[in-house]
Amino acid sequence: MKFVIAIDGPAAAGKGTIAANLVKKFKFAYLDTGLLYRAVASKSLDEGVKPEIAASNLTQNDLMKSNLRDPVISKESSKIATIPEVRSCLQSFQIEFSKKSGGVILDGRDIGTVICPDADIKFFICATVQVRARRRYIELLGRGVKTNLAKVSEDIIRRDEIDSKRDHSPLIKATDAILIDTSLLSIEQAFKMVEECVKKELKKSDP
Ligand code: DC
Repeated sequence: MKFVIAIDGPAAAGKGTIAANLVKKFKFAYLDTGLLYRAVASKSLDEGVKPEIAASNLTQNDLMKSNLRDPVISKESSKIATIPEVRSCLQSFQIEFSKKSGGVILDGRDIGTVICPDADIKFFICATVQVRARRRYIELLGRGVKTNLAKVSEDIIRRDEIDSKRDHSPLIKATDAILIDTSLLSIEQAFKMVEECVKKELKKSDP
């Protein structure tokens, strides 16, 4: 069996949570592609090398750093993701991952449009800036990061702008992606909607 689930959407819309629940439910392999960009940003800052150089020398250890979800790395990852050389360095790894046998889930910004245009099912997960900022703020507080809601909201707006307006592989809904607005949904409700769509599609591909 081969089944690819592509999940895209802006920061803090709930992609990661939905993907984690899908992994639990269907036991599919999962790649958080944002983590690759975060690792490049962190390596570039730590080692004082150009993002292109960091991207071409990325190792498994770079993906395990504990600071990858810090606000400074979030901001930097959005910036370095605009560099075409960085994107092309990371592209082949993502495409290879998507070709694994069995079920795979990839989440990011350009999965349904560029990395897996032929995915079996595509989701575009969104939510209002206010809802996303509040979620991210609570998550950061829980991790002991000192910040405030206004700052988190500003960061999200800036990242949305950079991610969706860049020239290469911008954040955009694939025409055949299922749009899920999680603004007014609980995690359980959002997951239920996604799960139903996946079950239906799985049945079609393996009746
Ligand atoms: O999903 P995330 O917030 O961890 O992603 C961090 C940044 O990486 C995001 O602001 C833009 C970039 N990114 C990208 O350009 N393409 C992807 N497929 C995934 C992430």
